[in-house]
Amino acid sequence: MADINTIGVLTSGGDSPGMNAAIRAVTRTARFNNINVIGVMRGYQGLIEGEFVKFTSSSVSNTIQRGGTILKTARSSEFMTDEGRRKAYENMKQAGIDALVVIGGNGSLTGAQLFAREYDIPIIGLPGTIDNDLYGTDYTIGYDSALNTIVECVDKIRDTANSHDRIFFIEVMGRDAGFLAQNSAIASGAEAAIIPESSTAVDQLAEFIERGKRKSKNSAIVLVSEAQKNGVGGAFYYADRVKKEYPQFDARVTILGHLQRGGMPSAYDRILASRMGYAAIEALLEGQRNIMVGIKNDEIVYVPIQRAVKLDKPINPELISVLNVLSM
Ligand code: F6P
Repeated sequence: MADINTIGVLTSGGDSPGMNAAIRAVTRTARFNNINVIGVMRGYQGLIEGEFVKFTSSSVSNTIQRGGTILKTARSSEFMTDEGRRKAYENMKQAGIDALVVIGGNGSLTGAQLFAREYDIPIIGLPGTIDNDLYGTDYTIGYDSALNTIVECVDKIRDTANSHDRIFFIEVMGRDAGFLAQNSAIASGAEAAIIPESSTAVDQLAEFIERGKRKSKNSAIVLVSEAQKNGVGGAFYYADRVKKEYPQFDARVTILGHLQRGGMPSAYDRILASRMGYAAIEALLEGQRNIMVGIKNDEIVYVPIQRAVKLDKPINPELISVLNVLSM
């Protein structure tokens, strides 16, 4: 067993539903194994400023169902500097923290990898992001909850789209990835999804309009990923184009924004976060370091953080065919 007496746990980057369930699982599994837990507030910024709270099992009581993160979170620009990371390391050592569990998305795990390499610290990453864009894991913590939130909203927008015979362009988050747009389109019975993973050679709007001509539908829902390609994209861009190029259609835009990140985690995310948090401590006890916990075919896997953040996670092309066929 690796010599780890105290771990620090932090959440970083955009919050995601299920982060609290992950913090709870990390804390309880560590305490079960007699490892001390320090909660680091506000992500890497709290590490730099020494904002530490001693965590016991009861610190995480009544949190599994709560959205957001009890540890708070931040996007720390200071941690991107050598000086910031040096301060973070000194504080960590002073507090007796031997290893870190970092719960966050791509940017947060990229920071973790750099920090681990520079200061030789064991770090375990948990994929906490609604974007589902980390390589090596089928799902990230928060993705399923965000998907459900989006679908609930789209169902409501559908009522007004039908009543007015309008095309709605609904913009969803996902940063550079189209998982939320593609799968919420399938789940809500939308007519199309415009995602960054599709080839730049394809004009996804023209394709959608052409497809629509073969159908007898008067209203439509198009899920648009927030990602821009070569400076263009987003729901307003497509709605403006419809106004100019296809004036026979009445187009509207809804940007779902940050409501997608809030709310109670789904049962799936709570279970995923619990399994991953448990696995993070098991990994540390086994002497593993600098890996991200993932899930593949419902089995927990360990992925080198470097691969998780560097490699692009592809969208299964079958999902694109499913939407195209079922939206007929
Ligand atoms: O990475 C999570 C995410 O919600 C992205 O989908 C989105 O692009 C970004 O964070 C928004 O960040 P912020 O909350 O800092 O505006």
